[in-house]
Amino acid sequence: MSLSPNQTHSIPSQNTPNNAHSAVDLVLDTAYQGIDEQAWQQLFAQARKSGLEQFIADLFAGKPVNNSENRPALHSALRNLSKSPVLLNGEDVMPAVASVWRRMELLCNKWVGITDVIHIGIGGSDFGPRLAVEALAHVPGIENRGMRMHFLANIDTAELSRILHRAQPNSTRVIIVSKSFTTLETTMNAKAVVKWLKDHGRTQSQIEHALFAVTANIPAAKEFGVEEENIFPFWDWVGGRYSVWSAVGLPIALQYGFETFKQLLAGAQAMDKHFKTAPLEENLPVIMALALVYQQEQHQITSYAVIPYADALDWMPKWLQQLDMESNGKSVDRDGKPVKFSCPVVFGSAGSNAQHSYFQLLHQGREIIPIDFIAVREPMSKLPEAEMHHRILLSNCLAQAQALANGKQANNPNETYPGKRPSNLLMLPKLNAYYLGALLALYENRTAALGALWNINSFDQPGVELGKVLAKPIEKALASRSEAVQASENIDSITAARINFLNSPAK
Ligand code: F6P
Repeated sequence: MSLSPNQTHSIPSQNTPNNAHSAVDLVLDTAYQGIDEQAWQQLFAQARKSGLEQFIADLFAGKPVNNSENRPALHSALRNLSKSPVLLNGEDVMPAVASVWRRMELLCNKWVGITDVIHIGIGGSDFGPRLAVEALAHVPGIENRGMRMHFLANIDTAELSRILHRAQPNSTRVIIVSKSFTTLETTMNAKAVVKWLKDHGRTQSQIEHALFAVTANIPAAKEFGVEEENIFPFWDWVGGRYSVWSAVGLPIALQYGFETFKQLLAGAQAMDKHFKTAPLEENLPVIMALALVYQQEQHQITSYAVIPYADALDWMPKWLQQLDMESNGKSVDRDGKPVKFSCPVVFGSAGSNAQHSYFQLLHQGREIIPIDFIAVREPMSKLPEAEMHHRILLSNCLAQAQALANGKQANNPNETYPGKRPSNLLMLPKLNAYYLGALLALYENRTAALGALWNINSFDQPGVELGKVLAKPIEKALASRSEAVQASENIDSITAARINFLNSPAK
């Protein structure tokens, strides 16, 4: 395999490199994938044969693409800023979506004098807003209300304690975010925060005033004690990991203003339009999906890395881990039959830091690990050093991709770089809410396209249930320290021994 840029397919456009495609101003350069024109044509033919075009149409049409739960995956409606209706079983969902937008905007306008927001949620109810709040913090010129945004996800009280140490109880607002409103970490943390408010002298009515919920289970939120007018709904046709576009993204709107939140939606909507309408040969999410499929089929790759050369996007690989691995980390297809290929392990972190961590393995390890390099053309600060630092950041990004692709021969095997290690380069004009929205929607759509190519349902997550069920009797056994635990139906002998060890006095 040669990685010569000239052997890749290309649709040249005026201001993009030779092997690049662009959508919503995001430029994807696949030159170092080492996929020649003939192979690309085969990949597009394979995609057509798999029914990818029909799948994309079904996804946007609200068909039940989540076949195990018989539900659509209509998160695209949450970012549909056009006036066009989105029909679900003959009913337009947009009035309900727009009514939540109006309520979010009203809340943004009336929330003054708040020092701290504690956003309580985990998984899809955490990663998206956490990533976006972090990513937009230093966008030059962005409206920033300067509240302390605390994200509380972990059941480990270390996180809770850190947050409660910093927050001012008299001027704190709490948002409980849970699609199901049954997630243990979230409800336990929410109870602890309410107790903290009480312990700091807040009255019942002040607590009710401070408490908000975002959920698809309104009765459970009410039962918890959240006033109905403080509950923001979303719907069972939105998967948790695809929900940042709903009121789950409230912290983004509260911190940076509703207009910024709308910009995020607008960028995502533009990417949806591209995914829905562009021919496969020009379709960024599809091209990225096919490049991964190619590397998987050619090299049996078992992992891939995402390295944003933008410190502000350091949370993106974590967000992507849930998106990809919870969606497509499965061994059976839609019909319950074993699949040959499915989701590789996803990892990554911001460059250039990542270079000083696991890049040794990327260059010289035994396995080929494809990489998505993400670069932002403009520096992300206005410091006097920004231009020069940014040049160095970009030069590192380009150099790593080149070194990985071309390698280097040496007499000493220890100093030999094998090369032929494929990568994408994805370039954003700058980092703002609009391009962030486009970037996240690009990956969401790529995940869906990959699911379709592997014939996997990307919208359920049955694999997360067993551990949750088994934790209950184990917790009970850990609580009753009195007698030795015996192996039983739910607790095997290894776990029973571990419980007994943990229940014995610590040194
Ligand atoms: O980890 C399982 C999961 O159900 C994820 O799919 C989801 O994002 C997360 O838990 C949180 O769920 P919820 O929003 O219902 O609290």
